[in-house]
Amino acid sequence: MRILVLGSGAREHAILLALKGEDAGHELFAAPGNAGIAADATIAADLDPNSPAQVTAFANDEHIDLVIVGPEAPLVAGVADALRERGIPVFGPGRAAAQLEGSKAFAKRVMDAAGVPTGRATRATTRAEVETALDAYGAPHVVKADGLAAGKGVIVTGDRAAALAHADAYLASGAVLVEEFLAGPEVSLFFVSDGDAVRALSPAQDFKRAYDGDAGPNTGGMGAYSPLPWLNDRFGSEAEFVAEVTRTVAEPVIRQLDAEGTPFIGLLYAGLILTDDGVKVIEFNARFGDPETQVVLARLTSPLSRLLMSAAAGHLEDEPDPVFADTAAITVVLASEGYPEQPVTGRTITGTDAAASVPGVHLAHAATARVDGGALVATGGRVLCVVATGDTFAQTRERAYAAIGMIGLEGAHFRTDIAARVA
Ligand code: AMP
Ligand code: GLY
Repeated sequence: MRILVLGSGAREHAILLALKGEDAGHELFAAPGNAGIAADATIAADLDPNSPAQVTAFANDEHIDLVIVGPEAPLVAGVADALRERGIPVFGPGRAAAQLEGSKAFAKRVMDAAGVPTGRATRATTRAEVETALDAYGAPHVVKADGLAAGKGVIVTGDRAAALAHADAYLASGAVLVEEFLAGPEVSLFFVSDGDAVRALSPAQDFKRAYDGDAGPNTGGMGAYSPLPWLNDRFGSEAEFVAEVTRTVAEPVIRQLDAEGTPFIGLLYAGLILTDDGVKVIEFNARFGDPETQVVLARLTSPLSRLLMSAAAGHLEDEPDPVFADTAAITVVLASEGYPEQPVTGRTITGTDAAASVPGVHLAHAATARVDGGALVATGGRVLCVVATGDTFAQTRERAYAAIGMIGLEGAHFRTDIAARVA
């Protein structure tokens, strides 16, 4: 197949590596990509991934069989709608269904209508409304921007003044959501849907805070691992957990969106907290999670292209469940100095070849570029992901941390405790 992947992160690199790993002779294209992606796909250099007209024209001219949308921005810009109107298969929801991610208030309304378990939340547009809601729910306080904020619009804090200050910053330009705090381990579970049928991937856990021990600010994600062995203690098996969430969360949401005339064709990302009161949704995303995708796809053994094409073409019902290797996978994000607040960019990265030669390790690039085709430099906050697989989490952690130790980037930081509790 001729496949175009939109986006420039480690998630998109992981998707392309999974497609390449099928050894099916796919012709892979990416826009805008990064230095790592450029080694595995043809970069469509002048293509703006957020332009419905440009993406549609490129897909048409290049006879693209399938477009896979990585980040949320092209979805919100209507890229998937435009492709679908032209009859070009695309994996990614239209603008209306993508609001599941783009508007937290929309997501809460859909969950209410579909009877999906989630925490209580109040939408506030004034400081007084925020204060009333903060006091109603009590500490710890959860305040979120009601819009896209790349995972950084959320504060969870015991400090009421900090929660208020966070709300003030977003009230200036829109509404905020004040939520009830949910306690328990977090799980990211991805579902592929064609708007009707649903197929679950294997669960992963993301590490959202910047520093070890879940300290520091929220980030886009600093690492992840899959599978989650402790699900067995709680649910009997991963399969039972997945079946429960499929029944209580994914299927009702997909049905609800279909009934509203905005079918969800793409990746439904359920961010879950396993509370003492049952599994509850904290957020939905309308796309693959980053960095969870790096570990989930590292374990996928059935063809990704078939699964996503079946969803895009509307015959997922005929597709068997995806298959995952019984191996451990972890990914550790190497971040620039100052990430997430003010990442320092432009610095040289060394040692990537040595890191990638550690057994069981590969790299997924996030924010990298080559200067004049030569030196590799960091161009953003999350620079690259070391992805490791192995027989046990102990072995897998050793591999990942041996590899990341070989990479040089002045001032860079990474978490040292990814998957530590399961090793
Ligand atoms: P979100 O962007 O909604 O995923 O929030 C980012 C992170 O904040 C989540 O992954 C959780 O760690 C935390 N969080 C968000 N909402 C809640 C909540 N209601 N209770 C507890 N933690 C939360
Ligand atoms: N890892 C969190 C996200 O992709 O939103």
